Amino acid sequence: MLINQKNSELKNIVILATGGTIAGTGEEGKTTNYQAGNLDIQTLISSVSNLDKIANIYGEQIANVDSNDITVNHWLTLANKINELSKQEDIDGFVITHGTDTLEETAYFLDLTVKTSKPVVLTGAMRPSTATSADGPLNLYQSVALAASDLSIEQGCMVVFSDGIYSGRNVQKVNTFKTNAFSSIEFGCLGYMRDNIPYFFNKSIKPHTIDSQFDISKLNQLPKVSIAYFNIDADPSILKYFSQSSEGIVIAGAGSGTFSTKWLQAIESLELKGIPVVRSSRIGSGIILEDDAMDKYNNCIPSYTLSPPKARILLSLALTKTKDYGEIKNIFAEY
Ligand code: SIN
Repeated sequence: MLINQKNSELKNIVILATGGTIAGTGEEGKTTNYQAGNLDIQTLISSVSNLDKIANIYGEQIANVDSNDITVNHWLTLANKINELSKQEDIDGFVITHGTDTLEETAYFLDLTVKTSKPVVLTGAMRPSTATSADGPLNLYQSVALAASDLSIEQGCMVVFSDGIYSGRNVQKVNTFKTNAFSSIEFGCLGYMRDNIPYFFNKSIKPHTIDSQFDISKLNQLPKVSIAYFNIDADPSILKYFSQSSEGIVIAGAGSGTFSTKWLQAIESLELKGIPVVRSSRIGSGIILEDDAMDKYNNCIPSYTLSPPKARILLSLALTKTKDYGEIKNIFAEY
């Protein structure tokens, strides 16, 4: 891909579009009953005023789906494309437009698998493009500005939403309705955007992008990992069921990644089958550390601060490297 350089003073930014509400359309002015993933990338770009004043833009449609329909294939396509294009000297950064429902998952996957220090920024919108309150244009404008900023180099994969800058590792969707829908909760944001200017105050210290050990370039699938949600009286047979089709299991446990005695017993039989079980939590903040009572079997691994969907991504990538419980534990401690 060659960017047709329009203004040699400006950075060249590639926008990879995947769909979501940012590309959604519906009844004029309203926020309800719209269809996500309807506008194509060129229409999306032309709907943002002054974008051409902050960067030269090249847009490519990777998919146009509701982000609940994003698959591993989309992830591999995105990561491979960014890895390939980032080798081009005339490309300075990347923006990915994405539905908000699973945006944090794609952001973390890319944080661990893209091999570039060039900026990679994800964004989306809570309101469709046809709503009076559409938030997509500002989010896209600020994402392009962030991707075009020298301050963004070596920051890992970031998310821009509602004036906030977040790391791919720590970002979470925290509101189902409001436009200010993302946060890194206790870790705080990396910084803020005012118009097109980023102000950084934090840095993610966990390995990412060029420092990450994960290489997906030769993969066309990822090891399957399933998430089992624990609640009072939850049936432990879900663990056996998942073990028949999955190489690893993440438990969205109660409190600090806890579950019942019956679930603990079910985990013992998974140890012999070679299935690692990561203890995460349904709480959404805090840390899960090694615990003698809960980590009674070698296959039990604490998730530290990763949410269940993010622990699922790390476990899946860890399984591309090793099946050894101790080594997987070290990966969770490091990442
Ligand atoms: C989606 O995730 O694709 C739909 C919801 C959204 O983008 O806010």
